[in-house]
Amino acid sequence: MAAASMSVAEAMWEELVVRAVSKLDKNDYMRYFPKICLTKPTPNEDPLADLDTFDGPGPWDRTLLEVEVENPMDAAAGRRKMLLFSGNDYLNLSSHPAVRKAASKAALVYGMGPRASSMISGHTEYHRLLEDTLADLTKKEACVITPTGFAANTAFLSALGSVASLTAAARRPAKHEKIAIFSDALNHASIIDGLRMVERHQEADVFVYKHNDMKHLDELLSNCPADRKVVYTDSLFSMEGDFAPMLELVELRKKHGFLFVIDDAHTTLVCGKNGGGIAEVYGIEDQIDICIGTLSKATGCIGGFIAYSKKWNCCDGGQKGALVPTGRVEQGPRVLRLN
Ligand SMILES: Cc1ncc(COP(=O)(O)O)c(C=O)c1O
Repeated sequence: MAAASMSVAEAMWEELVVRAVSKLDKNDYMRYFPKICLTKPTPNEDPLADLDTFDGPGPWDRTLLEVEVENPMDAAAGRRKMLLFSGNDYLNLSSHPAVRKAASKAALVYGMGPRASSMISGHTEYHRLLEDTLADLTKKEACVITPTGFAANTAFLSALGSVASLTAAARRPAKHEKIAIFSDALNHASIIDGLRMVERHQEADVFVYKHNDMKHLDELLSNCPADRKVVYTDSLFSMEGDFAPMLELVELRKKHGFLFVIDDAHTTLVCGKNGGGIAEVYGIEDQIDICIGTLSKATGCIGGFIAYSKKWNCCDGGQKGALVPTGRVEQGPRVLRLN
């Protein structure tokens, strides 16, 4: 992105990420994600060919709702038929015939499992296709998939913390080098776990604002001297079922210049004309810096993703597809990918 069209905060984050990456490069910590092209045992068969598509609800949409439940405390009582209202498979895609057919076809042609974690042997072109599709859906330029939505939040927070560590003058970030993360009090447990991790590593100071209370958030932001501010919120809160006040958050972003991260787990495929989530509803995709999501809810499967906007896309060309682990790779997906 041309520096002139960037806000001061955007330019600062870009500069930080570039510095963090060049430090990794210098220390030879950069790892490249190979792209694997699987060989088809039966060359004519393409699991993505002739896929069924669908326009609206079908009979499968309700079938899974009826379940039989056994009370583990009272096995003698037998099973009771119940309607399941507690699932997250909002569109029932998990049992849609087209999805089942595509999944079984893919397993028949390619077999099961990734053979190793992606850190070891990379992603197939189908993983890449999924990432590109999710980036398009959320109107971001790039996306990285993770094993779960939980892992997406902890991985992103870990990568964010590593930006503070890698750009610090000394081994640990000094007070002014730490990132200030403002988190809604009712954010998902995976965000809370990730926040604890970066706090423990002394890479960030965490400020919890009262649920959806923009006045409180504004006060905390105004009173915080840190330059590197991040606001992190669920877009639709899982326990309360209410939305974050997105337009007010966008106004605060303009005022305070923070990095805006949303956990869009519950609105992907559910909200927006194209299923692009909450940002699509308001047409504010360009105001969301990082969009975290899961594939275990409306997508009806399992997995998570981190989609990110142009300013994190600071290394093109030579760095394409680079993963950025820190020195603490053993702690899991502490990565940030720059395309
Ligand atoms: C807001 C939110 N974020 C993240 C997650 C974690 O997603 P996953 O179940 O894919 O790990 C959930 C799941 O309940 C959630 O509700």
